[in-house]
Amino acid sequence: MKKLKVGVIGGTGMVGQRFVSLLAEHPWFELTVIAASARSAGKTYEEAIGARWAIDVPMPESAKSIVVKDAVGDMASIAAEVDFVFSAVDMKKEEIVAFEEAYAKLECPVVSNNSAHRWTPDVPMVVPEINPEHLAVIEAQRKRLGTKRGFIAVKSNCSLQSYVPALHPLKDEFGLEKVLVCTYQAISGAGKTFESWPEMIDNVIPYIGGEEEKSEQEPLKLWGKVEDGVIKTATTPAITAQCLRVPCSNGHMAAVFASFAKKPSKEEILARWADFKGRPQELELPSAPKQFVQYFEEDNRPQTRLDRMREGGMGVSVGRLRPDTQYDYKFVCLSHNTLRGAAGGAVLLAELLCAEGYFQR
Ligand SMILES: NC(=O)c1ccc[n+]([C@@H]2O[C@H](COP(=O)([O-])OP(=O)(O)OC[C@H]3O[C@@H](n4cnc5c(N)ncnc54)[C@H](OP(=O)(O)O)[C@@H]3O)[C@@H](O)[C@H]2O)c1
Repeated sequence: MKKLKVGVIGGTGMVGQRFVSLLAEHPWFELTVIAASARSAGKTYEEAIGARWAIDVPMPESAKSIVVKDAVGDMASIAAEVDFVFSAVDMKKEEIVAFEEAYAKLECPVVSNNSAHRWTPDVPMVVPEINPEHLAVIEAQRKRLGTKRGFIAVKSNCSLQSYVPALHPLKDEFGLEKVLVCTYQAISGAGKTFESWPEMIDNVIPYIGGEEEKSEQEPLKLWGKVEDGVIKTATTPAITAQCLRVPCSNGHMAAVFASFAKKPSKEEILARWADFKGRPQELELPSAPKQFVQYFEEDNRPQTRLDRMREGGMGVSVGRLRPDTQYDYKFVCLSHNTLRGAAGGAVLLAELLCAEGYFQR
C-alpha cells in the first residue's frame, strides 16, 4: 500500500511532538508537513522546537529538517499537499472551529485532538474500540460542508479514556446506572513538564478548568446513537466527576465507583474486561493494543510509572475491583494521556478511518 501523506497542525506542541514521533515509523502514514503558529513558521522543526522537546523518545531524524509551515497562512498549500491532517493546537475555540472547517472545506480531512468540535452534532467523537459506528455521521457532515472528501473527526478528552473503556463492556448487559469518578491527571495533560511548571513539584492542584464537565458529559456522546444525520447523546448513566492535577509527568489515573440495574458478579466483570475486543482489534490496526483492558490482581497496581506504557501506551490498565458500601463496585483505571488519551488515540482513529475507506480519493 502507498503511504498516505500526513500533516501535523500544532506539531511543535506537547501532543504535536507525540504525533511526530508516532508517525516517524508508521506503516501506513508518512509525515510530510508540520505546521504551527507564525512564530515557528519558516524555521526547521529542530530550530522551532529549540529546548521544548518534552517527550521521552528522541526527535526523529526525518522530522528535524522539515520546514515548519504557518497552519493558517499556508492552509491552501498544506491542504493540497497532504491526504489528511492531525490537529492539536492551543488557540481560541472559535479560531479552531473556523480553521478545522476551512481545512475540511479544502477537501482535507481533519483528525482532531482539540475540544472545539466535540459537540458539533454531525462531528463524530470516537474512541475506536467503543463507538466506531459513529463514523457513519460523516456522510451528513459532508453534505452540510458541501464536500466530497473533507470532514472533521475528533477524539474525546484524555481524562475519560481510562474509565470509559472499563465501563463500556458492562454498560448494556448489566444496565450501568450511576458512576462517580475522581481523576488524578498528569502535568503533560496541560502541555507542561516539571521544568516549565515547577509549582507542580510536591504539589496537587484540585482544579483543571473545564475537565469535570468534559469527564461527565463526553461519555454520553460516545454512548449516543447516529440518528437523522446527527449524534443523539445518551441520557444514562448519571456521571459525577472531580479532576485533580497531580505531580506525574504522564498517565491519568481514575478512581471509579459504579452501580448497575442488574449487579454483575466480580467474575462476570473480570471476564468482560478480559474478552473486550473492538473494531481496531478485529481489523488488526497497526496501533491497536492486543489486550485493550488489562486487569491486575496485585493490590498496588496499576501504577502510573510502571503501567502507563503497557501496549505502547495504548492499553488501559485496571485494578482493585471490589464491592463498595455506597455503590455496587469500586476500582482504579490508568491510561497514558498523550498516547491513548491524545496523539496515539488520534492515530488509531485515523487508522480506522483509513481501513473503513474514509480517506479515499
Ligand atoms: N496534552 C494532552 O495530554 C492533551 C490531551 C488531549 C487533548 N489535548 C488538546 O490538544 C491540543 C494541544 O495541546 P498541547 O498540550 O499539545 O498544547 P501545547 O503544547 O501548548 O501546543 C500548542 C500548539 O499550538 C500551536 N499554536 C498556538 N497558537 C497557534 C496559532 N495561532 N496558529 C497555529 N498554531 C498555533 C503552537 O505552535 P507554536 O509552537 O508555534 O506556538 C503549538 O504547536 C489542545 O487543544 C489540548 O486541549 C491535549
